[in-house]
Amino acid sequence: MKILVAYYSRTGTTQRLAKALARWLGADCDPITEDGRYAGRLGFGRAYLAGLGHGQCPIHALLDPIPYDHIIIGGPVWAGHVPSPLRQYLTNPAIASRLVGVFCTGWTIADGTGFFAEVERLVGHSQFRRCSLAQHLCDADLYQYPIAKFSRTLFPVLAKSRKNLVIGNLNYALE
Ligand SMILES: Cc1cc2nc3c(=O)[nH]c(=O)nc-3n(C[C@H](O)[C@H](O)[C@H](O)COP(=O)(O)O)c2cc1C
Repeated sequence: MKILVAYYSRTGTTQRLAKALARWLGADCDPITEDGRYAGRLGFGRAYLAGLGHGQCPIHALLDPIPYDHIIIGGPVWAGHVPSPLRQYLTNPAIASRLVGVFCTGWTIADGTGFFAEVERLVGHSQFRRCSLAQHLCDADLYQYPIAKFSRTLFPVLAKSRKNLVIGNLNYALE
C-alpha cells in the first residue's frame, strides 16, 4: 500500500504538519511549489486575490500521484479558500479517486469549512477525512496530538476491510 501526502505551504506551517502526518502514516511526502509569485508582502496580496478569485497557477510537484493507492492533501486557508497551487494540483484527474484525507491550517480553526467545501467541489466527492488546525498551535509545536488523531481517523480507510493496519514495524488493531 502506497500513501502520498502532498501539500502546499507558503511559510512553512502546513509543511510541519505534512511531514508529521507522513511519518505517522509511513507515507511519501511531496511539496507542491510555485514560481515564488506568492512570496513576501506583494505575494501576500497576490495570494489573497488568488484565494478569492478561485484562480490557478503553474506548479511543480516531484511525485507522480498515479502509483499511489491513497492521497492526502494539505494547505493553508487563503481568504477562506483553497490556495491556488493546491487548486491547480487538484486538476490532475488521478487525484480525486485516491483522495482520502484533507488538512488545512489557518489563523483560526473554524475557517476550514470553506476550504473543505471547495475541495469537495473540485474533486466531486466528500469521501475524505478532514483536519483543520490553527497556526498558533503549529507554531507552538502542539500539532502532534491532532495529527496523530487525524491519522487514526484515516486508518480504517487505508486498511479497507482488514482488521489491522501495519505501518513500518507498528501493527494497529482496528477493532
Ligand atoms: C493570502 C492569505 C490569506 C489568508 N486567509 C486566511 C483566512 O481566510 N482564514 C484563516 O484562518 N487564515 C488565513 N490565512 C492564514 C494562513 O492560512 C495561515 O497563516 C497558515 O497557517 C499559513 O500556512 P503556511 O505557512 O503553510 O503557508 C491567510 C494567509 C494568507 C497568506
